[in-house]
Amino acid sequence: MIIGVPKEIKNREFRVSMTPSGVAELISRKHQVLVQRDAGLGSGFSNEAYTAAGASVIDHAEAIYAQADLIIKVKEPLPSEYSLIKEGQIVFTYFHFASSEELTKAMIERKAICIAYETIQKADHSLPILTPMSEVAGRMSIQIAAHYLEKGNGGSGKLMGGVPGVKPARVLILGGGVVGTQAAKMAAGLGAEVVLMDINLSRLRYLADVLPANVTCLYPTKSLIGEYLLQTDVLVGAVLIPGGKAPVLASRSMIESMPKGSVVIDVAVDQGGCIETCKPTSHEHPIFLVKDVIHYCVPNIPGAVPATSTNALTNASLPYLLQLADKGWKDACKQSGEIQKGLSIVKGKVVDAMLAKTFQLSLQDITESLDE
Ligand SMILES: NC(=O)c1ccc[n+]([C@@H]2O[C@H](COP(=O)([O-])OP(=O)(O)OC[C@H]3O[C@@H](n4cnc5c(N)ncnc54)[C@H](O)[C@@H]3O)[C@@H](O)[C@H]2O)c1
Repeated sequence: MIIGVPKEIKNREFRVSMTPSGVAELISRKHQVLVQRDAGLGSGFSNEAYTAAGASVIDHAEAIYAQADLIIKVKEPLPSEYSLIKEGQIVFTYFHFASSEELTKAMIERKAICIAYETIQKADHSLPILTPMSEVAGRMSIQIAAHYLEKGNGGSGKLMGGVPGVKPARVLILGGGVVGTQAAKMAAGLGAEVVLMDINLSRLRYLADVLPANVTCLYPTKSLIGEYLLQTDVLVGAVLIPGGKAPVLASRSMIESMPKGSVVIDVAVDQGGCIETCKPTSHEHPIFLVKDVIHYCVPNIPGAVPATSTNALTNASLPYLLQLADKGWKDACKQSGEIQKGLSIVKGKVVDAMLAKTFQLSLQDITESLDE
């Protein structure tokens, strides 16, 4: 199979979808890999490193899309990339369809085979390709929040952990999955007073056992969230309904009740956000204010630390890419329930029930697509 690795073009996205060692693995199985010139530079991988691994380095994305059977990316295709995608081409990347009807309709129109990293799911319900980026984003959310709490950066001027004799900052985390847990560990490690809320009671029980004593695990109700926000310095949004739009857990009036100079980081913005006042921002213009509350809503947070993120992403995506490349998408999906969960759109037909529901689109039975 011919596999294409185009350069990411989203704002300040420095990750690349495949490391040279991942390329070498594909080449050893007799696949051909086309890497766009300079695609890996942001992550520390030179064009020469890709050539040494066996890839062909190609100048323009157009030539890669024109030749490749499978395009592997990091972020969702942007409008300028839509028309490059060919009918029947496999596109394997983070799509986060629920946050963009435009992208969903564009992929239906292109008649591609869209396999979403973020909905590939193991039998235990974990999301193996989302997890590493959630680990990065969860950890980063707290270092970003600490930065914006500084007075010079517009914040209230509180130190996360306080000092002996002075209270620490209060951090509220909505969602206790991968992002929420990593954020809680980082905030607790800095000495903040942390509250983590999740509707999954068995998850809460587990977290209450393993997290440090300065993390309190609570079941969220609207009134409890409202009550806590009155005295919260940092709010982290980290909920997820796989494949669906995030539920809104904090309303505009709740956010406006937060102390002046407090910071909201809605990590769930890539699935539409779980905070009413959230709208997507970029690494170039990461924040905006809502009544003196700083909002940071960057949908590709891990893109800022590509040296870590690219390696973590390839570790997770490569085993699935190898199956797709070796077997073709149909057999890979038939033989692996995990990959089948990632199948979202097949040649113009939506096969992911949650996606069809989100935009009220007709749903094609997945087995029909696999038997066609
Ligand atoms: N902005 C970024 O750069 C970035 C990077 C990585 C992940 N993300 C996003 O972060 C979000 C969280 O990802 P994750 O890997 O932690 O997901 P996860 O599935 O591990 O965790 C989500 C948690 O949300 C909880 N939840 C669901 N509905 C809830 C509700 N109504 N109230 C409270 N909790 C609720 C679930 O029980 C679960 O524990 C996703 O939208 C993901 O795409 C964003």
